[in-house]
Amino acid sequence: MNLSVDSTVELLNGISMPRLGLGVWRSKQGEETENAVAAALQAGYRAIDTASLYENEESVGRAVRASGLPREQVFITTKVWNSEQGYDSTLEAFHRSLERLGTGYVDLYLVHWPVPGKYKETYRALETLYEEGKVRAIGVSNFLIHHLEDLMGSCRIKPMVNQVEMHPLLTRKPLLEFCKREGIQLESWRPLMNGRLDVSLLQELADKYGKTPAQILIRWHLQLGVVTIPKSVRPERIRENANVFDFRLTREDMERIDGLNEDRRFGADPDQVDF
Ligand SMILES: NC(=O)c1ccc[n+]([C@@H]2O[C@H](COP(=O)([O-])OP(=O)(O)OC[C@H]3O[C@@H](n4cnc5c(N)ncnc54)[C@H](OP(=O)(O)O)[C@@H]3O)[C@@H](O)[C@H]2O)c1
Repeated sequence: MNLSVDSTVELLNGISMPRLGLGVWRSKQGEETENAVAAALQAGYRAIDTASLYENEESVGRAVRASGLPREQVFITTKVWNSEQGYDSTLEAFHRSLERLGTGYVDLYLVHWPVPGKYKETYRALETLYEEGKVRAIGVSNFLIHHLEDLMGSCRIKPMVNQVEMHPLLTRKPLLEFCKREGIQLESWRPLMNGRLDVSLLQELADKYGKTPAQILIRWHLQLGVVTIPKSVRPERIRENANVFDFRLTREDMERIDGLNEDRRFGADPDQVDF
């Protein structure tokens, strides 16, 4: 498989989603986010991952519009936050997000976390938005296998994406296999372990391939068939993180990275959503 910066996967409903995107969690509203998004689009990224929680949707929308790229060439994901969940409140939250983005429609809308007792109603609102043509694809985030099974037991439209924490210390093989079987695209957040790149194997592989540890990690995600959204607000790192299409990790090196797994999360446990 020859990948490039604008390579896409096909989602269950046939639409294309870029394999690489820019994450903007903790990018500040205003210049910081606008400059990061502008740098990413210039470097060839064609997807941006935001959320109502991040409080930077306005800046994402402004930077996308300022880029001069046709709207349909940029894939925008946003998410409904936990306090906004429920059927009517999700519809309202979506319209607030869309207004802040100012992008006419959203490409992918996600249920941010599986809030107990709420996520099914929330997802039902996403189905409505999808059927009304306001979002091109819908999905979930931080769903474990049991959440997906529960949701799929009653939903009308299968989630197209599940965005979860994933990196070499948390490889999530059973979830990855489950999603592959179901045709649900797995997307990894915190792909760079939030910058904790001081791992001897990653440095060894970086030396071997003439790349940086961050590039080794991003390539590992891509070769697993996972969509990934590394975050940076620094243009040189944004370019570095996209410069991963001129080499290929061998199967053996992929397996060595898999071997770092400790089932260790840096973020919250989706079974303990009390926020
Ligand atoms: N669905 C969810 O619940 C959820 C949760 C968390 C995150 N996310 C999404 O996933 C995205 C990525 O995850 P994340 O932001 O948590 O973590 P990440 O992408 O693993 O790491 C980001 C950190 O790594 C640094 N960094 C970036 N590129 C680097 C490089 N080449 N070399 C060294 N350090 C580098 C960044 O610093 P600088 O910015 O200073 O470069 C930042 O501190 C988020 O932005 C967000 O869009 C989703």
